[in-house]
Order: sequence, then C-alpha cells, then structure tokens
Amino acid sequence: MLRGKNIVVGVAGGIAVYKVVDIVSRLKKQGANVYVIMTHAAANFVTPLTFREISGHPVVVDMWTESTNWNVEHIALANLADLFLLAPATANIIGKIANGIADDMLSTTIMATKASVILAPAMNTNMYLNPIVQGNISKLTQLGYHFIEPGCGSLACGTEGIGRLPEPEVIIAKVMEIFKGKNDLVGKKILITAGGTQEAIDPVRYIGNRSSGKMGYALAKVAAARGAEVIVVSGPTHLLPPSGVIVNYVESASQMRDAVLAHYADSDIVIKAAAVADYRPQIKSTDKIKKNSTTLNLVLEKTPDILFELGQLKKHQILVGFAAETQQLLDHAQEKLTRKNLDMIVANDITMPGAGFNVDTNIVKLLYRDGHMEELPKMSKEQLAGIILDKIRA
Ligand code: CTP
Repeated sequence: MLRGKNIVVGVAGGIAVYKVVDIVSRLKKQGANVYVIMTHAAANFVTPLTFREISGHPVVVDMWTESTNWNVEHIALANLADLFLLAPATANIIGKIANGIADDMLSTTIMATKASVILAPAMNTNMYLNPIVQGNISKLTQLGYHFIEPGCGSLACGTEGIGRLPEPEVIIAKVMEIFKGKNDLVGKKILITAGGTQEAIDPVRYIGNRSSGKMGYALAKVAAARGAEVIVVSGPTHLLPPSGVIVNYVESASQMRDAVLAHYADSDIVIKAAAVADYRPQIKSTDKIKKNSTTLNLVLEKTPDILFELGQLKKHQILVGFAAETQQLLDHAQEKLTRKNLDMIVANDITMPGAGFNVDTNIVKLLYRDGHMEELPKMSKEQLAGIILDKIRA
C-alpha cells in the first residue's frame, strides 16, 4: 500500500530518536520513498548518516547548508510529501507548530505542507500532561492534525507514566490508516451546495451574505476522498475547488435552484450547506443606480426555497440541511427539519466564537428525522464534514 508514496519523516530531539530508525526502515520495506528531516537536537541522539543509510536519501538538518548534488529544500519537501510523520514529536516542536513558529527546517517544512501530518508525541509524563502541551495538542487536533497517543511505561527519565513513543507497529498502522482512508462512499453521487448567493440590485451592486463556502467545500473534499462522485453548486468564493470534485458556479438563488434541480434526480445524498438569499430585489436595474436622491427604496421579493422544493420532490435521496441561527437554535432547526422534509439538519448558533461564517471551525448540533439530537464539540470544518458523512452512512 505504501509503494511509491512519499513520506517525510520529521525527527525532533528526544531519546526515542533511535526507535525512528526502525520506523524509517519499515516504511522503506513497504515501498515508500522516505525523506528525513532532523532537528539539530535530534542529530545529537542519532547521526544523520544513520538515517541517510536507512532511507537512501540525503538527510536535511540545517536550513542554510547549501546542498551540492541535491536540490530538495523545505518547500520542495513540503510539496513532495504525501504524508508527514513527526516522531518523536517533542513538546517544543508541538508548541512551535501550534503557534505558527517556523524557525528551522523541520518547523518550516511542516508549516508549508498541505499533506496530512501525523504527530507521535514522546516526552516526560509531566511535560505531556502539562496543560500548555495538552492545549497545543487539542488546538492542532481541531485543525486536522493527527495524533498518536503515547504509550505508558517506564520512561528514560526514570519515571513511570504516559509519554513513551508508541511501538513502531502502532505508528505504521496509523500511517496505513491515513493512506487507506475510508472508501465507504464509492458509487454514491453527492450534491453539495456551498457559499452564499448574490442577488443583483444593478450591474454593480448586489445583496449578499457572509458565507465563505468553507463548510460546503470541506464536505466536498472529504466526500470525494471517501470515494463519492461529488458535484458542488457553489456561490462566488475565493476557495480553490477540492480535487476530484465538479464545481458548478452560480450567483443567484434562482441559478442555484436550476443547477441543483438539474442534478437532483440521480443524486443519492444532497447536503445544502449554502447560505441562500431569502429575498432579492424585485427589479434589477439594467443601468447603475445613480446617487440622486437622499433615500433609495428597494422592493424585495422572496427567492425560491430550494431545500423546501427538494423536500417535496424527494424520492430515494437523503436530504441534509443547515440552519444558521442567532436565537432559539433547536426550535428553529427542528421546525426547518420538519417543514423541509429533511433527514438531518446541522444546526449552528453563529453567535458562538468558533462557529459559523468564515472561520475554520464550527460548533453544531445534529438533529435527525426520528427526533433525536446530538451535540458536537468545537472542531475543524473538515472533521465535522467527516462526522456528518459518517452519520449519513449510519
Ligand atoms: N435554503 C434553501 N433555499 C432558500 C433558503 C434556504 O435551499 N431560499 C436552505 C439552506 O441551504 C439551508 C436551509 O435551507 O440548508 C436552511 O436555511 P436558513 O437560511 O437557515 O433557513 P430559511 O428557511 O431561509 O429560514 P430563515 O432565513 O427564516 O431562518
């Protein structure tokens, strides 16, 4: 499974460095191309030469040494990586990543990579349990970094407790799990709406909303990674389309309706994460409206409620809506779930810090057709996307 995969192994300074030699060797035996970056502290425990011999590639330690026959520098390794494994992950490197500090080759490369990052912490028990370290771990977990819980036992510092680097088997199993991913959505067609709509007032102005599209795009990315055929009907956004996803761009609620209806019949799952304008100007001025009176009255008319229409037309589809509320969250969400004939609604109180528009995290409650409700903690939108898809599959 690892054949041809590029795995960058980041080695920070800790007594467990010697165990990472074995991990690099096992990854190589499984067919991976392994590149090692060490911190200076790590190089005090095991020489770069050892890792060079085992990995078959030059080992990067110093950011400023000019390479002679090899041109891989931090951005190149960051781009090359299919997966980044950081072992042992010390309190120091975890702290740096969590706080955006990039002052050596390892921290800089991690900062620049878009690959999945697995961290295997190993340190003294008290350090590991220190609330600052735990806070950094939970911050990174929310941002989508993967952690392997350290093992328990006697530590190099002479104490007993949690903090040992997990056995190589455990670390390799985690690497495999990330590559394998879930393929449970193969054969499913998922239609996702994302972003906010824009309703034209004249050729220059429009009525819009604060939706960034991040939740819908996270859903699309995760669904595609799990094997689904994904179509996103997207309002205007600066986000890049996730790979393997077809994006159908629209501006207004009525264009979104047409695009959604065109794909509805053969979709298995429809997730309406878009913030659709509820009203639009009744008349769109063909010319730019001039500033020649002290007030300007716009008459607004209702837009089509796309989700309500989908609920009416529903046959085999699983229908999921979103409810962004500022008050009486559960009552409003429950009412929408029933009125729009949904299977699930994702309810979020957008007044809570870390929830709602234009942030990378969300805090939601999931309400189901059968009346039960689940409350989820604050997490990254990508993690939430995974859970929403898990619940749909369940
Ligand atoms: N929705 C839709 N078409 C609309 C308005 C909303 O498809 N014209 C969908 C949204 O994509 C979301 C769900 O309906 O999945 C709930 O949207 P929301 O704006 O919270 O609810 P509304 O029904 O518009 O009610 P209100 O604005 O009064 O809260």
